[in-house]
Amino acid sequence: MRNFLEIDDLSPGELSEVLDLARRSDVPAVMAGRGMALLFEKPSTRTRNATEMAVAQLGGHPVSLAMAEVGLDTRESAEDLARTLACYHCVIGARVFHHSTLERMAAALSLAGVEVAMVNLLSDRGHPSQALADLLTLGDVFGPLAGRTVAWVGDANNVCRSLVLAGAMARMSMRVASPLGVGLAAEDLDRVHGLGGHVEVTHEPRQAVAGVDAICTDVWVSMGQEAEADQRRADFQGFTVDEELVSLASPEAVVLHCLPAHRGEEITAGVINGPQSVVWRQAANRLAAMRGLLWWLAAPS
Ligand code: CP
Ligand code: NVA
Repeated sequence: MRNFLEIDDLSPGELSEVLDLARRSDVPAVMAGRGMALLFEKPSTRTRNATEMAVAQLGGHPVSLAMAEVGLDTRESAEDLARTLACYHCVIGARVFHHSTLERMAAALSLAGVEVAMVNLLSDRGHPSQALADLLTLGDVFGPLAGRTVAWVGDANNVCRSLVLAGAMARMSMRVASPLGVGLAAEDLDRVHGLGGHVEVTHEPRQAVAGVDAICTDVWVSMGQEAEADQRRADFQGFTVDEELVSLASPEAVVLHCLPAHRGEEITAGVINGPQSVVWRQAANRLAAMRGLLWWLAAPS
């Protein structure tokens, strides 16, 4: 089985296959008699519920575990945890502080020759299952995505990184506006270029959103950054997705937010609750996206 630690673990063709499966309603029981372990080092509402329901719809059984319960790297190593969970499940999903934890778990399974997939349920580096749902949502609105332009405004974080890679794979033009010192790293940009994509980086939200088809944002303070909250809120002033900013995009533009949202910080209540917001469709698509991914991973090849 394949791992899904970042969106570009799939080829562009495989990404299309996953999205096609996500849109199907004739869902087979490809996980019948099999399980998925879900580990959470941080809170989750959408990812946990969407993933558990996706496993159930595919005929499998999800088992969600809080890290405090399993004692990741305290009660036992991440490697031993992965080997143990692989005795009972065909997929292991984990939401972790450090992306390296996912890589260690995947490496332990690979070293042991165990055919169990690791799935990233959000790490400090990426949120690829969110990017799948974001592509589905944009596809619901626009149909084919090639040639569309998407602006990210705010923190160039885990969600942004996966979306920019996904956008490149879908042949969209990506723009990222974030405060000085917060932008994507050179290696992220290299990775986008390696996929044949392009991302325009700016510190001017108005420049980024001019004429775009979609504006995306996320919280200014991600889980694990709570100690820096005051400083971050100060640094991100001017990066709120508000009505004036949205008015600079295409008149048909939609606004995405992975949620949870903080109205009055990264987005105004008027925008997120307004007619151009597709955040509830986006949240609903988390289930379809995860179902498509797990179907693709678990189906016999
Ligand atoms: N968007 C998202 O991943 O939400 P949760 O943190 O609630 O899972
Ligand atoms: N960037 C946010 C996303 C939450 C879904 C975080 O990491 O907390």
